[in-house]
Amino acid sequence: MIVECYTENNNRTGKFKTMNRTKIILDCDPGHDDAIAIMIAAKHPAIELLGITAVAGNQTLDKTLPNALNVAECLGIDVPIYGGMSLPMVRDQIVAENIHGVSGMDGPVFPPNARKAEPIHAVTYIINTLLESDGDITLVPVGPLSNIAMAMRMEPRILPKIKQIVLMGGSTGHGNATAAAEFNFYADPEAASVVFRSGVPIVMMGLNLTDQTICTPDIIERIKKTDNKAGKLFGELMRFTLETQRIHNGLAAGPVHDVTCIAYLIDPSIFEMKEMYVQIDTAGSAGYGGSFCDSWGCSKKKANALVGVSIDLDRFWNLIEETIRYYH
Ligand code: BDR
Ligand code: CA
Repeated sequence: MIVECYTENNNRTGKFKTMNRTKIILDCDPGHDDAIAIMIAAKHPAIELLGITAVAGNQTLDKTLPNALNVAECLGIDVPIYGGMSLPMVRDQIVAENIHGVSGMDGPVFPPNARKAEPIHAVTYIINTLLESDGDITLVPVGPLSNIAMAMRMEPRILPKIKQIVLMGGSTGHGNATAAAEFNFYADPEAASVVFRSGVPIVMMGLNLTDQTICTPDIIERIKKTDNKAGKLFGELMRFTLETQRIHNGLAAGPVHDVTCIAYLIDPSIFEMKEMYVQIDTAGSAGYGGSFCDSWGCSKKKANALVGVSIDLDRFWNLIEETIRYYH
């Protein structure tokens, strides 16, 4: 079956085969943009969301896990949710309270939620699911890479079972946690290094690209017109980071970084990508957590990642709008 998608103005944005939906595990640290990644992944017909795994990142795990459960409950997303690593592999913990608030997802107020996380650890879930799979599962980590790296270290037999990893993290240029490092990689540089040295095919959406996905007031208004629960939650979330990203990062609004990974899986033609060798700095000096992207091939090393270099923003926002329209 082929589904054609249209925006409100009847612009066709794409055809999607629903028979071979892309199977994913979404590993996240909600997180405003993580919540929107959940929203899009759960509803788009091209994606089969197998499970959501939470990790510490934007806030501590005792906050990111309930945030994931709240988003799922609010939107009626019937997908198992697992709690994972509460600390990075080596370094001391950092969080992004300045951007995401005390709860890690300030803005929306959720009613009490009886929904519980599954009773097994996210790392165990990832390992078991991959081992039992036909090698057709894509991992989509959009927080620190602690869960993914720990799974790789606990059970290396999963490596050939991972179809690919499509992640948000790093940058070909500037950082946002330090001058050199993007937050997800800086929050667990050793985990990022394990993943980039794993040999698994990696698609990397870094800040150089994701900072362009700022959700300005006109986009918030446009999504509000979808007039459903997802559009309402979208507005409550993005109005909060609109302010914090302006104050702390000098951006005109809050980017929806993590959503680029889902959009790439739905329609890669929205992006221009380039193969590069990417190395994570774990030396603990000024570059700690930085991602050195050898875009000129100076190192002569074989590329280990396909890195996002540009995005068609019109098509990106059309895709988000049309997916939010699927909610009732
Ligand atoms: C990344 O860090 C988090 O604050 C966001 O959720 C995103 O995954 C951007 O640097
Ligand atoms: Ca995130």
